[in-house]
Order: sequence, then structure tokens, then C-alpha cells
Amino acid sequence: MTSNVLPDEEGRSIPKETADALGRPLHDLRISLLDRCNFRCPYCMPETEFHADYEFLMRSQRLTHNEILKVARVATALGVSKIRLTGGEPLLDKKLPGLVGRIAVLPGVNDLALTTNAMLLAPVAQELAEAGLNRVTVSLDSLDERVFKSMSGGRGNLETVLEGIAAAERAGLAPIKINTVVQRGVNDHTVIDLLDHFRGSGHIVRLIEFMDVGNRNGWRMDQVVPSRELLTMVQARWPLRPVGRNYPGEVARRYQYVDGQGEIGFISSVTEPFCGSCSRARLSADGVLYTCLFATQGTDLREPIRNGADDEELGDILSRIWLQRADRYSELRRPDVAEHHALSKVEMYRIGG
Ligand code: GTP
Ligand code: 5AD
Ligand code: SF4
Ligand code: SF4
Repeated sequence: MTSNVLPDEEGRSIPKETADALGRPLHDLRISLLDRCNFRCPYCMPETEFHADYEFLMRSQRLTHNEILKVARVATALGVSKIRLTGGEPLLDKKLPGLVGRIAVLPGVNDLALTTNAMLLAPVAQELAEAGLNRVTVSLDSLDERVFKSMSGGRGNLETVLEGIAAAERAGLAPIKINTVVQRGVNDHTVIDLLDHFRGSGHIVRLIEFMDVGNRNGWRMDQVVPSRELLTMVQARWPLRPVGRNYPGEVARRYQYVDGQGEIGFISSVTEPFCGSCSRARLSADGVLYTCLFATQGTDLREPIRNGADDEELGDILSRIWLQRADRYSELRRPDVAEHHALSKVEMYRIGG
């Protein structure tokens, strides 16, 4: 008798149809709640493009919470156990705790996380934790006031962000991760200070290579600081030892300070791509499902949902998309091949990190 299930990398049995064309299971759903942000980080939403007249999605174009919940429910039935809420800036959605509460109780969800710039986090951290949020990841590129101000497009307040992190810690939204995108000549000289600040705090800083997502951030290879270089720089100050992955498909390579002061991570999608284990689907705020961060197109789920597709029909659409998936952009991309960068790719602020 042939089995219609196959074990995933964690040894669980998952329905066969959720493994993609390269054998990668669907584990992770990242939901962008809205395309707006209160920051204008130049590498993501440069002010020159995202100015006062920029037309963001209208409310009617965005999925409602009921619609988001439907996609999440169907995805969990296909094997998704990890859900990340992102943006733009998800805390601009004032009804977020209600949505968190409804997603947290879906059967199969065992990790519910939020990516935020933390400007609006302090007042809602406790409410989010009570609603069932497990943890937060905070995007924070520098603790140097001037560098931080400029990397948030003049919009961020460092003290408020640090208060947000402290409130998240009090609320138990741990482990708290700090995502730091490193750009050569922009904030690389402030990385050691940032690590020094968070050493011993229990929070995990992850140093991220600046990626060529979207087409609007003026990406150039010479602005990427390879993780290998950063590792050498950090090791020269504090000896590190590598530690294994927490789970298959983890994007960060983990290290611990030898002196016991905690953990840091390196996310090296430019110099050491990790497409082979990529188990993530991304849902944009207007209901388009993308199977790669660098996708040039996705599949609209909003129309079938608004035309009355039930869970089974939506499940069929999702599994069909996943079955055909063969994305591995980061592995194929060559920094020196102009056509790769000329592709019209989805922008990061539309599908989160
Ligand atoms: P944990 O669940 O805490 O391990 O985090 P995560 O793996 O969900 O990572 P997170 O959302 O914090 O992503 C951190 C950064 O890694 C993002 O901002 C991206 O820069 C990069 N990243 C995450 N997922 C992918 C991916 O699938 N492909 C590529 N190329 N980069 C990714
Ligand atoms: N390269 C790497 N990371 C990026 N992020 C946004 N744009 C880029 C990029 N070009 C990260 C942010 C945040 C998450 C949402 O995505 O720093 O942590
Ligand atoms: Fe906003 Fe995050 Fe993009 Fe910065 S990186 S503009 S905080 S969505
Ligand atoms: Fe996954 Fe695409 Fe990133 Fe590769 S480039 S890890 S396929 S999201």
C-alpha cells in the first residue's frame, strides 16, 4: 500500500500535496497586514518614492481580518504551524490584538510572531501577549542616534523603540529578536555598539545582509557586508562558537558568545543563500500569495475569497500553488548579472521581511 503522507524534516507526517516541486514542505505563513509604515527606511520605503501623495492600498483593497483568518485557517490545514504578522508596520492596525487572538487559537499554530519597528509597541505589548502572541522581532539598525534617525527616514525615535522592546520583555514576548540590516558605509561602524548593548539581555541580535529585494532601494553589491566579514569583526571582540539550528529551514546561522552573554545570528541570503530549505509563503495585504521574497508575480486569493470560495476550494488553490513552486531566487541570482536585478520584483514593504 502506498502512503499518501510523507515525513517532513521534523519527522511529522504531512499531506503529500504540501511539498513543493523541490520537496520543500509548507510550514511558514507570513501575513502582511498593511502596506503602510510610520518609517521611511531608505532601503525599503525611500521617502523620495513613498511621499505624501503616494497611493497606498485603500481599506477596501486590503483583506479584512475575517479574510486573513480564513487564509490562515486553510494554511494550517496544509501544514503551516508558524505564522508571522508583518507589514509595512503591522502595529498601524489598531485592531491587531483581536486578530492575534483569533489566529492564536487556530489548531496547529504553535508559533505566532510579529515583526515591528517597535515605535508603537510599548502601549500594546501586554495586550498582544494576553491575546496569544508568542514573541516579537524588532527591526533596529543602529543605536547611534544620528544613524538610526537617518536609517528610519527621519521618522524614528530611539528612546521610544527601546521602551517598546522593554515593554515586550515585561510582557514575556520572548525570545525577542533584533533584526539589523547592515549596509556598508551606512551603519556597519555601529554594529559592535549595538551588539554590546544587547549582550547579556537575553535578546538575540541578527545581522542581515542587505538584499536586492524589490526594485526601489538602489541595491548595490558593494553595500553588502558579507556575514563572513562581520563574523570576523565580532570574533575579534568577543569569541563566538557556532550552535546548531533551532529548526529546519531557520534562516539565521546561530552563534553564542563564549563568555555566556547570549546568542547572535547571521542572515546571509546574498552570500550564502538558503533556498534549499525555504518553507515560507507570503500573503500581501491585498491578498496576493507569493512563494518567494523575490517573486515577480503571485496569485490573487482575494477575488476567489470575495466570490465565496469555501475553505476546501481555497485549500485546493493553495495546495496547487505550493505543488508547482520551484522558486530559489537567491541561489540563482548573480550580483553581476544585470537582468536579475532588472526583474520587476515585489517590494519588501508589501510582503514584510
Ligand atoms: P525566526 O522565526 O525568529 O527564526 O525568524 P524568521 O526566520 O521568521 O526571520 P525574520 O522574519 O525575522 O527574517 C529576518 C530577515 O531574514 C528578513 O527580514 C529577511 O531579510 C530575511 N529573510 C527571511 N526570510 C527569508 C527568505 O525566505 N528568503 C530570503 N532571501 N530572506 C529571508
Ligand atoms: N535587505 C534585508 N532586509 C531587509 N528588510 C527590509 N528591507 C531589507 C533589505 N533590502 C528587513 C527589515 C526588517 C524586515 C521587515 O525586513 O530590516 O527587519
Ligand atoms: Fe517600515 Fe520595516 Fe520597511 Fe523600515 S524596513 S520602512 S520599518 S516596513
Ligand atoms: Fe525562499 Fe525565495 Fe528567499 Fe530562496 S530567495 S529563501 S526561495 S524566499
